Amino acid sequence: MSIGPVTFPEELVALLRKAPKLAVLTGAGVSQESGLRTFREAQTGLWAQHRPEDLASPEAFQRDPKLVWDWYAWRREALKGVRPNPGHYALVETAKHVARFTIITQNVDGLHQMAGNENVLELHGSIRRVRCADCRTLANTWDDDAESVPGCLECGGLLRPDVVWFGEALPRDQLEAAVEAARSCDIFFSIGTSGVVQPAASLAFAAHNRGALVVEINAEPTPLTSKADYVFHGKSGEILPHLVEAIWG
Ligand code: OAD
Repeated sequence: MSIGPVTFPEELVALLRKAPKLAVLTGAGVSQESGLRTFREAQTGLWAQHRPEDLASPEAFQRDPKLVWDWYAWRREALKGVRPNPGHYALVETAKHVARFTIITQNVDGLHQMAGNENVLELHGSIRRVRCADCRTLANTWDDDAESVPGCLECGGLLRPDVVWFGEALPRDQLEAAVEAARSCDIFFSIGTSGVVQPAASLAFAAHNRGALVVEINAEPTPLTSKADYVFHGKSGEILPHLVEAIWG
């Protein structure tokens, strides 16, 4: 089966047409074509310009809450004009054709939901939500431009982004659901992630060990590449629409 420059193996095509259970792990690469920078790409990656430990850790927030708040407020502002790309929409289309579809994302940008996907597990939280650093209550409204970090209406604690920082545990319910989806799927897709951050990276291996077909779509090789059953190197915003067209078009 061939569409343009991408060829999809018959085994993969046949299995996808049988409406399998899918688990899809996504990373920053999926949002790259929406104009968002990835984490580890030299020079352009977010972390190349900021030391993560200065901005994305509980210690950083304790040391300088306003600096951390302002950085996330800036990122939220930058997200306002950002829209899902064809890769996100291809995943929405895919969900319509399979028995079970779970997106497990490391992205905090909310673009899968904006595109229309419903079953999205956010392993690293969401930059679009804000919660109390002390009592964890989510805030309904807040002022991104406030002179000082806004306080929680429940307990007066400082508000912070509802994301997972370095050294913090992942949200337990999201992680448990992700592990379950990885262990019980027929096909596991790893898309646009360098596969170096745990525990997200181990999910593909868990799926592989349970007999799932593992498919990687990424701009470059990763630690998963040699274990994956099928690897497509390129942009997810191009490959995924081709895949959808080839299977269900
Ligand atoms: P990375 O920046 O580590 O990896 C992004 C991957 O996407 C790289 O392997 C790129 O080659 C690939 N890529 C870039 N553009 C692409 C495109 N258009 N199509 C397909 N692939 C493309 O980002 P993540 O793997 O998501 O965690 O990083 C994982 C975690 O590390 C993040 O969630 C964040 C960070 O520390 C936390 O903040 C907790």
